[in-house]
Amino acid sequence: MRTASAFLAALCLSLISCAGEAPQRVVDDTALADVSQGDVWLGFGRTYDEQRYSPLAQVNDGNVGDLGVAWYMDLPEDRSLYGTPLVADGVMYFEGSYNVLRAVDASSGELLWEYDPQVIEHAGDRLRIMWDVSRGIALYKGKVYVATVDGRLIAVDARTGTEVWSVMTLDPELPLFVTGAPKAFRGLVVIGNGGTELGAIRGYLDAYDAETGERVWRWYTVPGNPADGFENEAMAMAAETWTGEWWKYGGGGTVWHGITYDPEFDQVIFGTGNGSPWNQKIRSPGGGDNLFLCSVVALDARTGEYRWHYQTVPGETWDYNSNMDIVLADLTIDGRAVKAALHAPKNGFFYVIDRRDGRLISAEPFARVTWATGIDMETGRPIEAEGARYEDGEEVVWPSAVGAHSWHAMSYNPGTGLVYIPAIDFAGGFSDRTVDLGSWQSPRWRFDAGVDPLITDVPADAGSSTLKAWDPVGQRLVWEAPKPGIWNAGTLTTAGNLVFQGQADGRLLAHRADDGQVVWGFDLGLGISAPPITYAVGERQYIALLVGWAGSAPALLGSATAQHGWAYKAQPRRLVAFALNGEVELPASSPPAFPEPLVSDEFVADPALARAGEETYVRVCWLCHGPAAVSGGTAPDLRASPILLSRTAFLNVVLNGSLRGNGMPRFPDLSESEVEGIRHYVRSLVADSE
Ligand code: HEC
Repeated sequence: MRTASAFLAALCLSLISCAGEAPQRVVDDTALADVSQGDVWLGFGRTYDEQRYSPLAQVNDGNVGDLGVAWYMDLPEDRSLYGTPLVADGVMYFEGSYNVLRAVDASSGELLWEYDPQVIEHAGDRLRIMWDVSRGIALYKGKVYVATVDGRLIAVDARTGTEVWSVMTLDPELPLFVTGAPKAFRGLVVIGNGGTELGAIRGYLDAYDAETGERVWRWYTVPGNPADGFENEAMAMAAETWTGEWWKYGGGGTVWHGITYDPEFDQVIFGTGNGSPWNQKIRSPGGGDNLFLCSVVALDARTGEYRWHYQTVPGETWDYNSNMDIVLADLTIDGRAVKAALHAPKNGFFYVIDRRDGRLISAEPFARVTWATGIDMETGRPIEAEGARYEDGEEVVWPSAVGAHSWHAMSYNPGTGLVYIPAIDFAGGFSDRTVDLGSWQSPRWRFDAGVDPLITDVPADAGSSTLKAWDPVGQRLVWEAPKPGIWNAGTLTTAGNLVFQGQADGRLLAHRADDGQVVWGFDLGLGISAPPITYAVGERQYIALLVGWAGSAPALLGSATAQHGWAYKAQPRRLVAFALNGEVELPASSPPAFPEPLVSDEFVADPALARAGEETYVRVCWLCHGPAAVSGGTAPDLRASPILLSRTAFLNVVLNGSLRGNGMPRFPDLSESEVEGIRHYVRSLVADSE
């Protein structure tokens, strides 16, 4: 089937060229750096600067009210969607659930080809630690690059959809996965990975030859065991900032998002993740900065050699990480031209960094922050609040592990000079009172961050969020708009004085970029987690996005995300494109759905078994099914499942993997009594909710 459709696509693309329309352009370093080409969206953040700013202004704050649906594509097999589609020469490429890659005609949505990397089959036991999503793909010199959640980097022919090469980027023994977008430049494709809560992990960034798939360099973000020798001087330097036997715990620092190529300095700038485990008392008991956790790092793009770094959170201990997007911008600060890198990581501070040398230019909180009172500009270090490190075993701090800003894209508009940040106000409780700090060991493929796990549901009103327009030069808020819940999508800004953002309540809104006023809205009938893009085909400008509730918050935060009613598979998934005077009728979505706990006398939970089951549930099932079994929508709500009423059916799903083909992993290493305990635990929650 793939060959037949691929053949048609090739034919159709060659006919377009034959018909004398725009010749196929080569997506190379020059094209990816060219901000003037508004018809295309070639890279993750549109151009290498990751600004997500488009010079197109056909749709603007005067006529945005005339936007309507130009075309849509139903995606009945998809579930979670949060990727950024790419567009070149009238063809849109996008990734759906489980990395299924599709090319469609960008003016009609007609499918040209589809490539399915068969992720569930390849994943093996890795399926139990990963979600079905990816944030994006790369397009480079006739190939589309896909990084699958199970860890392969695959090159696919952009014309035909056929596989050119495939390499494994992960050690099969390690509980890592990939959700980030690969980045292509200078004949290389780079990719990192994620997964620090499930085992002893050492983060790294890999570069592969774009033509052959051969690995060119790897850069570890944290030092390994000194007895094995260090890979480079940067690791030797980093090792000075660690204490105890950190290598036993891996250290962490994964590069799961936020990779930027800076063509002006020929460097790759990326953010690194949290510690593994989160709790520094275990990981590095004598303290220390723990380089290069929670840092912005620049490497020579060609050789992968260390150039500079700026650490946003020395001695990370809150799951803060610096993996959020890094935007390049030319700013004028105090009359001086600055080549800046802009960064708003989880920890709540907005950083302006000089990307020539990594020097901190300014940093101010853009959200509610209590773990630190500010950044000392003499040293560039945070001034930590007393008690924030849960020194006494427990503390509530802002932001939470979800962050004041996560991977939801921010955008920068050179016209308004503002950065548009999807910001979150949400406190986190950190405690290690029940953790045996002295004897703690890294988990193997089970969740354990070295802090007390989240056991209870997270109430619907636990946090709030806003869209913030931030002036990076003055380091001040210019406007902000309230948003529903905590989990709203990334932003797009245009020369039409607009900012587009999809929301947790299913609406796509357009704000005026200069003052924030809402000038348009459209109800897409399902929570939006993907950022919109814009492009043009012929004379027509389109705004397009994937619609499919997704991410770690809907998986992990119970009622805080379940409140919107996007229960597992309850509403249709789509790719939707808007244009001025678009007149296509979008079929109505299903209304918000709230799974009702299934009340039954058939099975009575035993309190002792339920207590044991809770522990197993938290380590193994919570990742996808939510705290206290309240699902935010990325997996079924187990309190409503009839399967839990039957011991055999439940064992069959959990131990034998009868639903594996749909994404429910198999757990053959759990004992029958452990599984039975989980069943008693979930059913006891139903009894409690009556
Ligand atoms: C990596 C994510 C993930 C993890 C971890 C996970 N599940 Fe699931 N689970 C799913 C998904 C996705 C489905 C829906 C599959 C489908 O569409 O049929 C599912 C479905 C189920 C179902 C069927 C519900 C129904 O009514 O159809 C049960 C029961 C279940 N899971 C139990 C568990 C238990 C118990 C654990 C822990 C031992 C667990 N799951 C861990 C993702 C996960």
